[in-house]
Amino acid sequence: MAKRILTGIQPSGILHIGNYFGAMKSSIELQNQNPGETYLFIADLHSLTVNPKPEDLRMHAQRLALDYLACGLDPEKTAFFRQSDIPGVCELTWILNTITGLGFLERAHSYKDKIAKGFIPNNGLFSYPVLMAADILIYKSDQVPVGKDQKQHLEMTRDLAIKFNQMYGDVFVVPEPIISEAVAVVPGTDGQKMSKSYNNTIELFGEEKAVRKKIMSIPTDSTPMEAPKDPDKCNIFALYRLFATPEQTGALASRYRAGNFGYGHAKQALFEAYMDYFASMRKRREELEKNPGYIQEVLRKGAERANRLAEQTLDEVRKAVGLR
Ligand code: ADP
Ligand code: TRP
Repeated sequence: MAKRILTGIQPSGILHIGNYFGAMKSSIELQNQNPGETYLFIADLHSLTVNPKPEDLRMHAQRLALDYLACGLDPEKTAFFRQSDIPGVCELTWILNTITGLGFLERAHSYKDKIAKGFIPNNGLFSYPVLMAADILIYKSDQVPVGKDQKQHLEMTRDLAIKFNQMYGDVFVVPEPIISEAVAVVPGTDGQKMSKSYNNTIELFGEEKAVRKKIMSIPTDSTPMEAPKDPDKCNIFALYRLFATPEQTGALASRYRAGNFGYGHAKQALFEAYMDYFASMRKRREELEKNPGYIQEVLRKGAERANRLAEQTLDEVRKAVGLR
């Protein structure tokens, strides 16, 4: 049977190439691989749990929509929408809150991690997994592709679906997580995992000069220009292989090993590979940027589709719990 696949992305920063290779690329490719329905949404209500500046939240959500469309998300194939445009999600969150034990939420890693980072917890952060369960269950999603960090949230969603079904009768589909172990961690300019929290990112759609500067400033060791170098120990090479074909990667590795090839040359090759790889997406992004009305229309249509489905499920839920 055709599966309904859904995933959400928080608009919490400027997208970088770690986000692209780690999450965006595969979530966009789903539209051609999944014979069933695909839903992808901007999880703006989740981002609110850390109280971003309103102008930042707005800008990040707009950029996320623009960047996904530029990277090839086809709104005819994937319903693309904003979480906050689906009012039923908040209603379902409330209903699920009433069957969620406090101890269950206290065990959530994401909440514990945020507190460890110094966030003063609010009720929204505490019940974050319940909002996420509502996101998933309201569309009766069969499968949910997420990163490893979201595994526990998916388990909580499944537990809530099972508990609700036991208490009130079979309404929800118990979703399956799809957690790709194959996704490699993209290193940042300092060799650690690329992350917006570490100031080591290469932006996905950075301004050309700024990207060049960032690449040229990647720290390297002091091996002299003439000396042979080991590509597998070099961060520039690790980044280059993301963009290059196996032949190009092999050719660059040989140049490293042959000597008389400096890190400056490698950085130049990386910059060119980055620009080539994203050329058509950058072009499409420029065109889309001139047409904000189109993006709003895509999100409006996506929300219309999602709302239809959400309202059907909510009707069943309201009846099941005795609200109708
Ligand atoms: P950041 O670490 O910059 O805060 P997020 O946590 O917002 O990024 O990540 C959003 C998505 O992008 C997640 O699915 C995550 O797994 C993926 N991602 C982020 N950084 C990387 C990386 N360096 N390598 C691979 N995937 C990444
Ligand atoms: N919590 C997810 C993250 O931070 C985003 C998200 C919210 C999500 N709701 C979802 C992902 C529902 C999948 C399904 O990455």
